[in-house]
Amino acid sequence: MSNVLQDAPAEADASAGLACAPAPRSALDAAAVKAAYRRWAGVYDTVFGGVSAFGRKRAVAAVNSLPGTAVLEVGVGTGLALPHYRADKRITGIDLSGDMLDRARQRVARMNLRNIDALLEMDAEETRFADASFDIAVAMFVASVVPNPRRLLAELKRVVRPGGHILFVNHFLATGGVRLAVERGMARASHSLGWHPDFAMEALLPPDDLARATIQPVPPAGLFTLVTLPRLGTPARVEKPAA
Ligand SMILES: C[S@@+](CC[C@H](N)C(=O)[O-])C[C@H]1O[C@@H](n2cnc3c(N)ncnc32)[C@H](O)[C@@H]1O
Repeated sequence: MSNVLQDAPAEADASAGLACAPAPRSALDAAAVKAAYRRWAGVYDTVFGGVSAFGRKRAVAAVNSLPGTAVLEVGVGTGLALPHYRADKRITGIDLSGDMLDRARQRVARMNLRNIDALLEMDAEETRFADASFDIAVAMFVASVVPNPRRLLAELKRVVRPGGHILFVNHFLATGGVRLAVERGMARASHSLGWHPDFAMEALLPPDDLARATIQPVPPAGLFTLVTLPRLGTPARVEKPAA
């Protein structure tokens, strides 16, 4: 995955008022994401499928346990999570990479998954969905790849209804100990690693959200973390049809 990452200083977020958010030292822009995942699409499941399987299954189990049926999966990739949703969850998947989406579409056809409503090429930071379209949005191993994680969060808050939930599973920078030192060291190799060991949770969640999120390390090694954020606000009342 070398040569696909572009340096993006924290100031890149200044226009969105995000300059104070800690940013990873490198970030991908949309063109770099597409180029990277064009190369990765064919081998992604083999290279990353195994190591990330536990986190993905945890996140989908959490989605399955939450109320509501309309689910948005952002950065759906090759669709590794799709077979794990309960049949009554209706899934819309989006991704920037057409090559990854092609793999997801093949999986849906091959496995005859009937609860996948759509797989769309779309930027998760700026979708075309109406406000409050979904009960749940979930992003698995995506937050540290998108160019502007705070914009991703803002967009997910817009498209999830009040009372719904937003979930992330990701690797986040350790807060201390040997792992912090190792990850800071590894961050220098972000370009060749193709991911960001120094992606801090604070780059995604502002303090208020951080305080009310449920944060669960994903076993066995706790390398990944599941974050569940309730979407604030009062759910719209469902009008009963006239008798
Ligand atoms: C590491 S892969 C994770 C794929 C999948 N979620 C999984 O669990 O295997 C990251 C995915 O996010 C997608 N992605 C990155 N930035 C995106 C954006 N702004 N909007 C939509 N998808 C994006 C990439 O194309 C890629 O498919």
